[in-house]
Amino acid sequence: MTKLNVVLDKRLSEKGVLFYHTINFDKSPHLMTVGASGSGKSYLNKLIAARCVLKIHNSKITILDFKADDYSFARGSSRLFEFNTVKLGLELAYQEFTDRLHGNHDRSFRLIVIEELGSMLAYYDKKESEAIKSMIGNMIFMGRALNFHLVLSTQRPDSNLFNAGVRDSISTIALGNLSKEGKKMLFSEFEEMTDEKHGQGSGFMLIGGAKLFSIKVPLIRNVKKLEDYIRIGLDR
Ligand SMILES: Nc1ncnc2c1ncn2[C@@H]1O[C@H](COP(=O)(O)OP(=O)(O)OP(=O)(O)O)[C@@H](O)[C@H]1O
Ligand SMILES: [Mg+2]
Repeated sequence: MTKLNVVLDKRLSEKGVLFYHTINFDKSPHLMTVGASGSGKSYLNKLIAARCVLKIHNSKITILDFKADDYSFARGSSRLFEFNTVKLGLELAYQEFTDRLHGNHDRSFRLIVIEELGSMLAYYDKKESEAIKSMIGNMIFMGRALNFHLVLSTQRPDSNLFNAGVRDSISTIALGNLSKEGKKMLFSEFEEMTDEKHGQGSGFMLIGGAKLFSIKVPLIRNVKKLEDYIRIGLDR
């Protein structure tokens, strides 16, 4: 079982009760974090990455940070890729994925965090960005059995990620207040609930397209420890 407790129930936390909404990677193997600039996506992504390393035996992470501003503490780690090396980072992770597909029996937990997917796709020309989308699509479809998991982070969700069949294997965490279009794209079935107002570090989590919760991202208490875990996961 690969489960992580990262985000808190918002309503209960306002009453002083700390109740986590579990992210279950076996049931819903991938995650998307969405929200405007400053809403707290990278803060949450770091928490998820560090918790994976802490809680999941021998888990390895790859981080692709096109903007190159959130992981300077990990520069020099072998699987941190910044700015124009992000495509190479994805290709290396994809190589491991296809190795597993073609007979490598390693099934240790692999997490690939893609920061700013929207800007990353926009940077590359059409052919290259199609290649990126196709690698991501294949990992989304076939990742579960191979224990490959994606965290896709973006200011604006890409409708390609909502093709038939994909939606159920991606849980979504939307932080801050979403635009009308964002709500429609992400949470169309939950219109009455999504009028609730949110700020930095709070929002909605939709699990496997079925259950919607109001959530709050907890405070990082020990930044140094978090950064240490992320570095370990990037190098082991
Ligand atoms: N849950 C939180 N609790 C406390 N502070 C937070 C939280 N989330 C974010 N912050 C603060 O807000 C700042 C901006 O958050 P973050 O960089 O995660 O936003 P972002 O959504 O990734 O923005 P961008 O799209 O510009 O990358 C962080 O540096 C941090 O100081
Ligand atoms: Mg960010």
